[in-house]
Amino acid sequence: MQIDIITLFPELLKSPFEVSIMKRAIEAQKVKVNFHLLRDYAENKQRQVDDYPFGGGAGMVMKIEPIDNCINRLQKNIVYDEIIYLTPDGEQLTQGISNTLSTKKNIIILCGHYKGVDQRVRDHLITREISIGDYVLSGGELAAAVLCDSIIRLIPGVLGDESSALTDSYQDGLLAPPIYTRPANYKGWEVPEILSSGNTPEVEKWREKKAIEKTKALRPDLIKDQE
Ligand code: ADE
Repeated sequence: MQIDIITLFPELLKSPFEVSIMKRAIEAQKVKVNFHLLRDYAENKQRQVDDYPFGGGAGMVMKIEPIDNCINRLQKNIVYDEIIYLTPDGEQLTQGISNTLSTKKNIIILCGHYKGVDQRVRDHLITREISIGDYVLSGGELAAAVLCDSIIRLIPGVLGDESSALTDSYQDGLLAPPIYTRPANYKGWEVPEILSSGNTPEVEKWREKKAIEKTKALRPDLIKDQE
């Protein structure tokens, strides 16, 4: 998989790719991540990437030309499955969307800034708009890191234990059950006995029961969605 990220502030974005799972995935060549500095695609001498909004109002708007130039340049070499714009008014990211995106070959992610991009970028250049939640960040870079992490860990072979992504919260429509490790008794706080029983079918039953209980208590909407 190849992910091309278009950004004004690559420094905001790079370090999450330099540690842990994402670093390992890149080193194992499961994914290639490239950063493209939007300013390099600006047309005038000042390398201007934003301008005042037509009609007036506060804040600056990201210009269409540098974005179009950058996307065109990338598309000269590769066909992209999705060109994603990260924006708080996009479709809210879910595990299902990450699962789908993890099966794609090439994607572009455009990080917004200021008041956002000229609407014509959204109307003509972008194939999908994603939000990571109902709150506003200063720009799309942190959202891009979140989106990439959620996708990259799902690429086959990236997680050591292949089954471990399957038992994540949301993967089966339920929150993950509680987990424990040694010591079995810490300050009198005990691990449920069943987990040390060695009885795998019973452990699985217990985990499913706990996952359902937890989901009903914390996210009843997830259960309702399945009914
Ligand atoms: N850019 C700013 N806020 C965002 C959000 N919540 N999700 C995605 N991109 C964003």
